[in-house]
Amino acid sequence: MSISNAVITTLPQDFIFGVATSAYQIEGASKTDGRGPSIWDDFCHKPGNVANYDNGDFACDHYNRWKTDLDLIHGLNVDAYRFSFSWSRVLPKGTGQINEKGLAFYDRLIDGCLERQLQPFATLYHWDLPSSLQQLGGWTHRDTAYAFVEYAALMVTRFGDRLASISTFNEPWCSSMLGYLEGIHAPGLKDISLTMKSIHNQHLGHGLAVSQIKSINPSLPTGIVLNLQSIYPGSDSEEDQSAAIRHEAFNNGTFLDPLFKGSYPSAVTDSLGHHLPENWQDDLCNIHQPLDFWGLNFYTPTRVIHTCQRESAFPHTAQIFLDSEHECTDLGWEINAATLKELLIDVYKKYQLPPCYITENGACFNDEPTEGTVDDTRRVQYFEDHIAEIAKAHQAGVPIRGYFAWSLLDNFEWAEGYTMRFGLIHVDFHTQRRTIKRSGEWLANLAQSHHARKNSSLL
Ligand code: FCB
Repeated sequence: MSISNAVITTLPQDFIFGVATSAYQIEGASKTDGRGPSIWDDFCHKPGNVANYDNGDFACDHYNRWKTDLDLIHGLNVDAYRFSFSWSRVLPKGTGQINEKGLAFYDRLIDGCLERQLQPFATLYHWDLPSSLQQLGGWTHRDTAYAFVEYAALMVTRFGDRLASISTFNEPWCSSMLGYLEGIHAPGLKDISLTMKSIHNQHLGHGLAVSQIKSINPSLPTGIVLNLQSIYPGSDSEEDQSAAIRHEAFNNGTFLDPLFKGSYPSAVTDSLGHHLPENWQDDLCNIHQPLDFWGLNFYTPTRVIHTCQRESAFPHTAQIFLDSEHECTDLGWEINAATLKELLIDVYKKYQLPPCYITENGACFNDEPTEGTVDDTRRVQYFEDHIAEIAKAHQAGVPIRGYFAWSLLDNFEWAEGYTMRFGLIHVDFHTQRRTIKRSGEWLANLAQSHHARKNSSLL
């Protein structure tokens, strides 16, 4: 299987390919060298929260295997590696006392990337809030935003001149909606009022951190990663069509509008504004900061219907899953690559946005090794289809700069524990043996052809 040349030649020549991970999902070493606990340690260690009572204590043991893991990335011929810092590894209590050994790990990792010509794309927050900050209210408390700025300053002062880019947050939608509303992610709460506060304080942390980062290192490309939804009404009925509009305001607008317009959607403030922190309006100018790029994480479209159940709150919608029409991944997520292109085109029509990276895209298929190989052809197909749609979006004028496959390794998939595999590289979690899957070989070929084209045009 090989992606058509036409697709590769459509992508801009300076387009980059990369692979992505996050700290809690791969590092393990949860108590090593002074790392403090995070809300994900706490959440996993309460029975019933995560499949099989799994946790990230060992994960992929990347903290100890970073060198050979970087060699594996290098072998995939990609240009960049997207990873996240563990806040509680460097500031065990979230603020104050600095853990030099934690910083030294990221020195090794970043220098290891540079030695292998891999551009380091770092994320400050991929959901693992230090537990001490949760004890003070976590993201529902304004001081967490200030603590985040202190953390951002520490990391950018130390690493900024060696990074290719920095993102403040990964998918604040997930930390708020899954963590504070649905209760299926840490900290496991179900409260709309706390949810709205957690969203606002993450926005504030983002905006203040961006100003701080720029004052420390003005030339470091700075952005944020969002998991926008590509939303479709579940039927042609007027009710479902208005449901889709409300769903979009709540799930996309609550994030895009403050960050890129300096306001919240009125549909959201009309219904939920009273849950935002007092004087929230005063923060909007700090939240709305110019960014050098933004990242889109995309997996599957969202189909919604109107719901009028009494307990349903704004936006009064429910997500539905189509059966037979489209194939699904092993997590039950609909595969529909064209909806990625539609989302990209639509969002650039509605907002003034900087250039974009696809910072995550991938599929869960639980193929296991047979005789030393993992033949994950469905994942290869998924990647091919999505990259082809990205090329079309680029042709339609969307400024896309790169693509990161999720994920380098099979890893700790949050509430699903180790049961759901997204890796280009298979991990045997008992032995930590890594086996490059067919999809990994495929990406290596794709990245190589892309380089060959770049080099030939330079001749
Ligand atoms: C995204 C997360 C990432 C991973 C993928 C499957 O929402 O950012 O950590 O879990 O989903």
